Amino acid sequence: MYICSCFGITEEQVREHADTGACTPRQIASACKAGTDCGSCVRRIQTLLGRGPNQRHQDVLVAGLPVGAERAPFAVEAA
Ligand code: FES
Repeated sequence: MYICSCFGITEEQVREHADTGACTPRQIASACKAGTDCGSCVRRIQTLLGRGPNQRHQDVLVAGLPVGAERAPFAVEAA
């Protein structure tokens, strides 16, 4: 089944690239161009890689950090 119709890339091809080390949509794009035209397949590629759109949020929850802490490494001082 095609996952990227712009470049005719199948799910199997994405899995093969993932098996050889591509673990992000950007790395998949470097390997086969999937996701670099209209972009409508990027979320499906993320899902196929096991990295949904909220994966960073999930990583933070698993790490036990409060949501948003990874984005605010310093305190914001009031004016
Ligand atoms: S469907 Fe993949 S870039 Fe358009």
